[in-house]
Amino acid sequence: MNIDLINKAELKHNLTKAELISILQDNSINSELFKAADRVRKKYLGDEVHLRGIIEFSNNCKRDCLYCGLRVSNKNIKRYRLKAEEIVNLANRAVSYGYRSIVLQSGEDEYYNLDMLKYIIKNIKSMGVAVTLSLGEKSFAEYKYYREAGADRYLLRIETTDRELYDSLDPGMLHENRKMCLESLKKLGYEVGTGNLVGLPNQTIESIAEDILFFKKMDADMIGLGPFIANEDTPLKKFSKDNFWMSIKVMSLVRLLLPNINIPATTAMESLNKNGRIIALQSGANVVMPNITEGEYRKLYAIYPGKICVNETPNQCFNCIIGKIGSIGRVVSKGLGSRRK
Ligand code: 5AD
Ligand code: FES
Repeated sequence: MNIDLINKAELKHNLTKAELISILQDNSINSELFKAADRVRKKYLGDEVHLRGIIEFSNNCKRDCLYCGLRVSNKNIKRYRLKAEEIVNLANRAVSYGYRSIVLQSGEDEYYNLDMLKYIIKNIKSMGVAVTLSLGEKSFAEYKYYREAGADRYLLRIETTDRELYDSLDPGMLHENRKMCLESLKKLGYEVGTGNLVGLPNQTIESIAEDILFFKKMDADMIGLGPFIANEDTPLKKFSKDNFWMSIKVMSLVRLLLPNINIPATTAMESLNKNGRIIALQSGANVVMPNITEGEYRKLYAIYPGKICVNETPNQCFNCIIGKIGSIGRVVSKGLGSRRK
């Protein structure tokens, strides 16, 4: 019985591939699954929610992933790059609201060289906050340089552990290299976040089960995952499907197997369901990553359509999310929000 499997996972934090598949295929036990993940979150991490302010500083990308609106072949998007100083200023404003953790994300953009990134990282680190990078695949030497400049954490989603699927969706990229990047980041002492897309065309339940086992095996410190949302400006525009609940199921299972890691309620979830982040926070998540980019750039970082908060200001989002977190009896953490060991 799948209920028994959920109970077992809640106690032992282990499931086999066959067991994961069995739960993923059964929608009659969803609310039991979500409640179990919520209990595990509470037992290991308490009621604190960590906020990370995310700066989407460049939407230029040299890659061509079929699912992503930032892909280099997309000519329907206006590209932008923030100057190093602007990035530091955005972080500074976020820290003045109360953020203790800043995430710097961009497409794979070679414009930002080592010196510029060092300047940005050092200046933000000096504000006494945790710095997370999400810049894609780089060399070991580059990761080492950022680390020495003060970066604490790195996010790089594996996207899918299904090599064939990866090869078909990420032309010119090597699955082996992505895994090697994750290993390099671990070796360099970063807290490492990864994750997957849920509902990709031709993605099987089996491969999603493998993704979850991969997260467990690599002992990721953070797992950010979300529903695939078809983007009109990409070759996958015809594959529109509502992957919201499936992504919540996958997230809940990740919480059962990795009880003490950080799991964000992701923006893509809220883009498909107006209560998406609250549902996620009540199904295993303990982190929210509000956008702290300002102005038109919020719209232009158009990975997928329907992205929330494109017309809000960072301050509005900060107040909004604090209200939502309070409304479900949770509290905003005042700490840096490292993985609790
Ligand atoms: N829908 C949802 N998420 C997407 N991402 C890329 N394209 C899409 C899409 N169409 C995710 C990838 C990437 C992250 C920054 O955005 O998982 O790692
Ligand atoms: Fe942006 Fe609610 S978090 S408006």
